[in-house]
Amino acid sequence: MRMYDMIVKKRNGGELADQEIQAIIDGYVGGIIPDYQMSALLMAIYFQGMTNRELGTLTMAMAKSGDMVDLSSIDGIKVDKHSTGGVGDKTTLVLAPLVAACGGKVAKMSGRGLGHTGGTVDKMESIPGMRVEMDEQDFLRQVRKIGVSVIGQSGELAPADKKLYALRDVTGTVESIPLIASSIMSKKLAAGSDAILLDVKVGSGAFMKNIDDAHTLAEVMVRIGQHNGRRMKALLTDMDCPLGVSIGNALEVKEVIETLSGHGPSDLEHECVTMAAHMLELSNLGTYDACLAKAKQALFDGSALRKFQDMIIAQGGNGEVIYDTSLLPGATYTYDIKATKCGYIQHMQTEEIGLAAVQLGAGRATKEDTIDFGAGIVMAKKTGDAVQVGEILATLYANDESLFERAADVYVQALTIGADPVELQNPILGMV
Ligand code: URA
Repeated sequence: MRMYDMIVKKRNGGELADQEIQAIIDGYVGGIIPDYQMSALLMAIYFQGMTNRELGTLTMAMAKSGDMVDLSSIDGIKVDKHSTGGVGDKTTLVLAPLVAACGGKVAKMSGRGLGHTGGTVDKMESIPGMRVEMDEQDFLRQVRKIGVSVIGQSGELAPADKKLYALRDVTGTVESIPLIASSIMSKKLAAGSDAILLDVKVGSGAFMKNIDDAHTLAEVMVRIGQHNGRRMKALLTDMDCPLGVSIGNALEVKEVIETLSGHGPSDLEHECVTMAAHMLELSNLGTYDACLAKAKQALFDGSALRKFQDMIIAQGGNGEVIYDTSLLPGATYTYDIKATKCGYIQHMQTEEIGLAAVQLGAGRATKEDTIDFGAGIVMAKKTGDAVQVGEILATLYANDESLFERAADVYVQALTIGADPVELQNPILGMV
C-alpha cells in the first residue's frame, strides 16, 4: 500500500479502503508520509470528494490520532453543540447552562477566537477568576455534580487535524466541504459526546457565505456523526447580521446574563431556545415542543441563570457577576457612531463589523495577539431598523481612544442604509 498508489487512486476518482485511510493518517501523523504527498492527496480529495464511508472512516481516524475524551462516568446522554463561527455568537454560554437547567448533560470543550469570529473560551476568561483549563477528572466531576462544564480544549485533541489544517492552509485546500467536515467532526468525535447539535452559520459573517454550501456541509457532518454512532442534528442559522447586540468579550457575557434572565435581544433568545430544545430532544428528554416549553420556562424562572452561576463558581469565577455586571472588565472610553443619513438598514457586512471589534482590541488578528476583554461594540440599530440623521447606530468601547476613528470608519462602511423597508427573515434558515 504505497502512498503514491493511493494518491493516484483518489486522483482517478477511486474509493479508498478503510485500511488505506487509516494507514494514511497514521503515516502522516507519524512523520512517515511527507507533506508533499499529503498535499497531493488533499488536492485530489478537493477535486474528487469522498464517499460517506470514506469520510466516516477518515474522521474517526483523525479523532483517534490523539486523546479520546471518555464521558462514560457521567449518567445519561451527553450533548454537545458546535457553531461554525460568527460575529456576536455567544450561544454556547447561554445554551450550556440552559440545557443543564432542563436536565441535559453538557461536557463541552470550546475554542478561542481568531479573525472576525469570537471564541467562547475568551469570553469566559473575561469573568474574573474563571478557569477554562481543567484537569479531566475535575471536568467530569463538575458535570456529574451540576450537569455542565465548558472548558478550553485540553490534551491532544485530534492532532491529525492540526497537522492537516496547517497543510491545507498553505496548499489551497481549505475550501473543501469534505475536508472542512472531517476537520470539525474529528474534534467533536474526540470530545466524546453522544449527541451533537451543529449550528452551521450562513452569510456575510460566516465561513459559509451561501445557503447551498452550508446545507451540503451540514448534511456531510451529520452523516459523519451518524456513521460513527452519534445522534446528530444541524441547524442553518443566519450570520448575515451579528447575533444579539453586543460584540466583544465582557460585553457579550453581560448579554448572556441578560438573556439567561429572560431579557436578552429577541434574535439571540429565539436562537438559543430553539437550539436548547433540539439539544434536549437529542438527549431523549421529551418531544421538541415539550423541550422548547421547558427551555423557555428555565429562562423565565431563573433556573438557567442560577445554573450559569453554579458553573462560574465551580470553575473558580466570581458568581456575583450575575447580579453585578460592573464586576466584568470595562472600557475607559466610549464613542457613539451617529447616522448621517436616514432610511432603513438594508444590510450589515458582518465580517467587517467583526473586524472593527478586533481593531478595538476585542479579538485577535493573529494567534499571538492579546485581547482587551472590555473592548467591543454595542449596536443600537441592526438590519431592518429605521434610522434618523443623528441617531446612534452603535457605541464603540475601547481602552485606547486612538482606536476609535479607524474602527468607526470600518463599521460605517459595513452598513448599507436605503429608503426601502426591509422584511426580516427567520434567523433559523433550515435544518438537517
Ligand atoms: N473549522 C475547522 O475546524 N476546520 C476547518 O477546516 C474549517 C473550519
